[in-house]
Amino acid sequence: MTTANRVHNFCAGPCTLPVSVLEEVRDEMLNFGGTGMSIIESSHRAPAYDAVHMEALADFRSLAQVPEDFSILFLQGGASLQFAQVPLNLLAPQESAAYLTTGTWGKKAFADAQLVSEAYQAWTGADEGFARMPSTSDFDLHPGTRYLHITSNETIGGIRFPEYPTVDLPLVADMSSDFLSRPIDWDRFDLVYGGAQKNLGPAGLAIVVVRKELLGRSERTLNSYMDYRTHDKADSMANTPPMFAIYVMGKVLKWMQAAGGLEEFERRSAARADLLYGTIEQSEGWYRSPVDAASRSHMNIVFRLPSEDLEKQFVVEAAASGMVNLKGHRDVGGIRASVYNALDQQSVVALTDFMTEFQATNA
Ligand SMILES: Cc1ncc(COP(=O)(O)O)c(C=O)c1O
Repeated sequence: MTTANRVHNFCAGPCTLPVSVLEEVRDEMLNFGGTGMSIIESSHRAPAYDAVHMEALADFRSLAQVPEDFSILFLQGGASLQFAQVPLNLLAPQESAAYLTTGTWGKKAFADAQLVSEAYQAWTGADEGFARMPSTSDFDLHPGTRYLHITSNETIGGIRFPEYPTVDLPLVADMSSDFLSRPIDWDRFDLVYGGAQKNLGPAGLAIVVVRKELLGRSERTLNSYMDYRTHDKADSMANTPPMFAIYVMGKVLKWMQAAGGLEEFERRSAARADLLYGTIEQSEGWYRSPVDAASRSHMNIVFRLPSEDLEKQFVVEAAASGMVNLKGHRDVGGIRASVYNALDQQSVVALTDFMTEFQATNA
């Protein structure tokens, strides 16, 4: 298959990756750096892999401007494992944390935190159909709370925090679906985590960025994999790391750095979102965004058509025109266009042109 045969891939995750990265991976697949084997056949203790691994750690730190007093961990188990691993590492048995139920993912994070620690819900958007992110004045925070957990972008509902909430508590954030799509003001956070498979690379890798002074803070006896200290001490090589995902992410990080860093990706994502929401608005109600304008995601643009039949037809005809993975999540229906870091602006132009044409033909 050549580049010309590639589709416009609006998948919510795993996501489209830069073609130049995929080409490099292809070129190195049979013989990585003169080793006579691919990186995925190499020992993770071999110098070739060690260099890839340490460079990916350094590049993540430099691209995301992570201060030296934070540790960066490359883990397995996805963001889902972090729903439990975070409270196990940050909360002593008698301490509690506040959680915001802003959609499917915030709800799951809260449910798992409750299984392993004291956690309470400081806000839920359930009654409003998860159509908006809360403002600080909505929060019900109890005295003595250790941290406030947020989901910076709800992948299924299509909402995001345009600004991270300002509270008198450290924030912990699941950034899975808008990871490194905008700069992070680290002063506000104790910990940030996310799966790599949306903005940064293939599935199989979760990245945790945690304040070093908090390592071991919970004073719980944890099995070694669950204890962040295990990974911190070993530069995330205490056990076999997800080598392929780290290797590919390393290339994506370099590609992002060369393209201009996080400010540039914030600009690009705003431009992609503007085009899509602009098209929805220009349709005069034919396409409809079900979420509050101030909370609209820049990564997962969710919209409805006048009927479910038209939505089905839209997905089928878009796919026939080379635009795939547009069907909304089964929990909410409708259409969802996921427009992550590596998605070319031209793919968004193709989609908005298609939307305009589809409306003209079917309205
Ligand atoms: C915001 C968010 N959090 C967590 C997850 C779960 O991630 P994983 O599949 O890496 O466990 C997802 C997956 O889509 C997500 O979008």
